[in-house]
Amino acid sequence: MDALPALLREGYLWLPHRRSKESGAATRGRLAGLRFTGVEGSDALRFFYDENNIRRSGAMPEPILSTLFGHGAVHTLDGEEHRHRKAVFTHLLMPPESVAGLTAAVMRSWEAERPAWAGRERVVLFDASARVLTRAVSGWAGLDPDEGEIDRLRDDLVAMVDGFATAGPRHWRARAARYRRERWLSGIVREVRAGTLAAREGTALEVIARHRDRDGVLLPERVAAVEVLNVLRPTVAICWFVTYAAHALHFWPQHRERLAAGDTAFATAFQHEVRRYYPFAPFIGGRAARDTGWAGTPIPGGSMVLPDLYGQNHDERVFPRPYDFRPERFVENPPGEWDLVPQGAGDPETGHRCPGERIVVGVLEALSMRLAASHYRVPPQNLHIRADRIPARVASGFVVTSFS
Ligand code: HEM
Repeated sequence: MDALPALLREGYLWLPHRRSKESGAATRGRLAGLRFTGVEGSDALRFFYDENNIRRSGAMPEPILSTLFGHGAVHTLDGEEHRHRKAVFTHLLMPPESVAGLTAAVMRSWEAERPAWAGRERVVLFDASARVLTRAVSGWAGLDPDEGEIDRLRDDLVAMVDGFATAGPRHWRARAARYRRERWLSGIVREVRAGTLAAREGTALEVIARHRDRDGVLLPERVAAVEVLNVLRPTVAICWFVTYAAHALHFWPQHRERLAAGDTAFATAFQHEVRRYYPFAPFIGGRAARDTGWAGTPIPGGSMVLPDLYGQNHDERVFPRPYDFRPERFVENPPGEWDLVPQGAGDPETGHRCPGERIVVGVLEALSMRLAASHYRVPPQNLHIRADRIPARVASGFVVTSFS
C-alpha cells in the first residue's frame, strides 16, 4: 500500500509511528509510487550525508521544487558542483559579521514596526514578525522594495513555505508566489548584470548575480533568482520559530525572567529548545547512489532515503523526556552536530546542512529576549499546533493585544 495517505494523515508522526510499529532501525515502503527507506539517529545521518551512499540530484519531487526550493537550487546539486555553489551561501551567511549584521537589521526593523503594534487592537505575531523579517532581509540582501511592496513580498515568501506539502489551494498559492518572485528577481539580476541597476557590493543580490558556476559561466537568470530567494524565503520563515517562541513563553512563563534580563547563555539554550521541540522540517530526502544498506536493511540503488528530523529531535535516547519543553537541557550540554537536527546535520561547509542555521540562532535568540521583555496580553484564541499539517503552525498565528 502506498504510504502517501498515511503521511497526509499523520504528518510529523508518520515516520515515528511506522518505526515503533515495525520495531526496526529502518522502515520501508512506497511513497507516491517511489520505494523509500525511512531512517533515524545520528549514525543514520552520518550514512545519509556520505555522498558515496546518497545523492541529491533527482531526489526532490517536482511539487517541492516548484514551491519551496526552486528548480536548479543548491539543494539539488552533488559533489564539486554542490560545494562550489554552496560556498556562495556559507560565505554570505556564516561569518559572525553576517550573522550580527542581519540580526541587527531584524532588530531595527522590529523597533520600526513596534509603535504601530501598540496602536492596534490586535497583532498577529506570525504576520507581524514575518513583515519585520521581510523588511530586514530584503534590505540586507541588497533589494530595496518600496514600503508598499513589503506586505506583498512577505505574503509570497510565506506562501512558498506554507504550501509545499499539500495538494490544496495552499499549494497553488505557493506555486503562483514562486512564479511571480522568480520573474521579478530574474529581471533584477538582468539589470544588475547589464549595469542598469546598481547592487551594493557584497550583498546577496550582487554576489549571486555575478557568481559563475564551476564551468565559468554565469548562472542562468532564473537560477540566480532561485538562489536569491533561497536567502530571502527561509529568513522570513524564521517567523514560524518566533511564533513558537511566543507560544513557549505563554505556556512556560517561568523562562521569561532570565530572557528578559538578557541572559544570553540561557537565550541560546531557549532557542535550541524551540527549534528542537516544535515541528517545522519533518524529514529530508535523497536517493541511494548504489545498492547499499543501513542497519541490516537493504537499500536499492535509486530508491529514496528519508532521515526523520522531527523523529530524531524527539527521540528519548538523544533527548530524555523529549515532550517536555526544557531549555535547561542545553545550558550545560550544547548540542552535537549530529544530534539536534531541525536544519539538517553534519558540516554545513561540505554537506547539505543548512547554511542559515547561525542566522536563525542569532535572530531567534535576540527576538526571544525582546519578546520576553515586552508587555502584551494573550486573549482567548486557538493555540493548537496540528501534527498533521506540514508545515505545522500555531492555528491563530498567536494574537496579542495591548502590545508595548
Ligand atoms: C537547507 C531548515 C533557515 C538557507 C536546509 C535544510 C533544512 C533547513 C532542513 C536541508 C538540509 C539537508 O538537506 O541536508 C531550515 C529551517 C530554517 C532555515 C527550519 C528556519 C527558518 C534558513 C536560512 C537560510 C537558509 C535563514 C538562509 C538565509 C538554506 C539553504 C539550504 C538550506 C541555502 C540548502 C543547503 C544545501 O543544500 O547545501 N535548511 N532552514 N535556511 N537552508 Fe535552511
